[in-house]
Amino acid sequence: MSLRHFLTLTDLQATELQSILCRATELKQMHHQRLPYEPLKGRVMAMIFEKASTRTRVSFESGMAQFGGHAIFLSPRDTQLGRGEPIEDSARVISRMCDVVMIRTFEHSKVERFASVSAVPVINALTDAHHPCQLLADLQTFLEHRGTLAGKSFAWIGDGNNMCNSYIHAAWLCDFHLKIACPYGFEPDPVLLTRFSQNVELVKTAEEAAKGAHLIATDVWTSMGQENETSVRKRRFSTYQISPRLMDLAQPDALFMHCLPAHRGEEVSDDMLEDPRSVVWDEAENRLHAQKALLEFLLISGG
Ligand code: CP
Ligand code: NVA
Repeated sequence: MSLRHFLTLTDLQATELQSILCRATELKQMHHQRLPYEPLKGRVMAMIFEKASTRTRVSFESGMAQFGGHAIFLSPRDTQLGRGEPIEDSARVISRMCDVVMIRTFEHSKVERFASVSAVPVINALTDAHHPCQLLADLQTFLEHRGTLAGKSFAWIGDGNNMCNSYIHAAWLCDFHLKIACPYGFEPDPVLLTRFSQNVELVKTAEEAAKGAHLIATDVWTSMGQENETSVRKRRFSTYQISPRLMDLAQPDALFMHCLPAHRGEEVSDDMLEDPRSVVWDEAENRLHAQKALLEFLLISGG
């Protein structure tokens, strides 16, 4: 089995992504039926968190426990990672003791440096540039509710951030059309916009993106690490809020997603998450199932 990492969604081929998404739904059914399945007995995951997390930590830790394995939470505050030990040295050591490593950090180059010397698979659990694990859950959720991705029209409204960059990768791999509406100066990575221009289109207003969409997705206006820009961002993004009224411009069966945590009254109106078109709680649950399918792929079947 060759060593595979999951640093961006494009580390998977389109067919591999499809089979992981199918498997995620199978694992979900098995979990809901309480069927014991422990393919990772005795295996250990190291979870390095340099930023806060609820969903990512709980889903990976629960997933490893349900698979019969174990997860170790590591933060820079109480490991040598926070005291300047080079990332490559940490990678060599941790990957000799653990079977898979998950990292949430700031610079994307950090996960790449870790992976370049790691003896075991490395999973990007969010960097400033990408959040591919969240996309696995979003895609699984859309498939479960609407059956197919290819040919659909999706809208990303808000910040051209890590989530938006990963949506661009998803558009290419799953062949849907992605309209992106961001305030001027907050667009996603221009390299991605050019490279995947066949599937991606930048539009000016939230209304333009929402029109006819099968899915509207958004995220916080201020990501982790940008807290000092909060007040500027609140002003610049004020016309990019998702509300039931904006959703009315989309397809009649349109869905709404948000990776969470959400800020009601900012990127979503007070009533958006509870709107019948919102599938955010299914989306959050699917982090668990999608990542279990990813772990099975990286550690057992697909590498
Ligand atoms: N969506 C997501 O990654 O949530 P957490 O920050 O809680 O892990
Ligand atoms: N864009 C957000 C996602 C949080 C899950 C952030 O990076 O903070």
